[in-house]
Amino acid sequence: MQPPKSLEPASREEARLLESLDPQRLPRHIAVIMDGNGRWAQRRHLPRVAGHRSGVESARTIIETCARLNIQALTLYAFSMENWRRPRAEIDFLMRLLRQYLRKELPVIHRNNIRLQIIGRTEQLPEEVRADVAKGVAHTAQNSGMILTVALNYGGRAELVDAFNAILDRFRSKSGNGNGSANFRVDEETIAENLYTAGLPDPDLLIRTSGELRISNFLLWQIAYAEIYVTETLWPDFRRAELYAALADYQKRERRYGGLASEGTEIPALQPEPQHVQQRHVLGTPSE
Ligand code: FPP
Repeated sequence: MQPPKSLEPASREEARLLESLDPQRLPRHIAVIMDGNGRWAQRRHLPRVAGHRSGVESARTIIETCARLNIQALTLYAFSMENWRRPRAEIDFLMRLLRQYLRKELPVIHRNNIRLQIIGRTEQLPEEVRADVAKGVAHTAQNSGMILTVALNYGGRAELVDAFNAILDRFRSKSGNGNGSANFRVDEETIAENLYTAGLPDPDLLIRTSGELRISNFLLWQIAYAEIYVTETLWPDFRRAELYAALADYQKRERRYGGLASEGTEIPALQPEPQHVQQRHVLGTPSE
């Protein structure tokens, strides 16, 4: 594809990769597990926080590049619920870094027409972080370009628990004295509508840096059909050329959604589940 002005390639390799991309077949939604900041620093005999600082530069580059490529949605796993187990000083540093990023980059995010949203149990974040996040979300709420979702104090299982409880709460408030509860059923659409990511397309591409072959409790429901790309590159080294390489790899994949190659690449619309029929979920195994 021809580069937009702002994406002038910095090297021949970057130019070659960009040229090889088909703009019609870019993923709609890219999700990223940004891993390897600590190892990046360790290899340079630097404190771990230096890796996080450099990781922010990668995040900035990837966010801007995806926006310029007209990617519809980018979701970054910035802080998991499990990350609270890290030393207090590192957690404080990460929170400060995030606030700095938001304050400094908000104008650039806005200029790029990006809409910021946060997913996770944000009510458990420090007050100052919540305030900066709320400001960023409000400031960009009317933007119509890429949706940048930052997962903060996020866990995929917790998200499902929250979704199920939201469904139950709504059901209870509607059904009052409980009449009709025998017929109450949940379908995939209802679950998807109650996830933090409601309204976003499911990720087409999940990128994980630093070589670990794990999902780490990220978007468990949403990645059912995502193409997974794992690179040995550590997150602070993951810049434009690495993103283009991931996209080129994605464009080589054949997406089958459990069907056969000739069936095309669109996910067929889900049939509504029949009401009042006992579903059995153990009848067959998918074909891939
Ligand atoms: C993993 O590296 C990375 C994180 C814990 C997330 C931190 C992410 C950033 C600082 C990027 C900033 C993002 C935004 C949206 C501004 P690690 O410490 O687990 O690395 P290791 O596995 O090598 O120890």
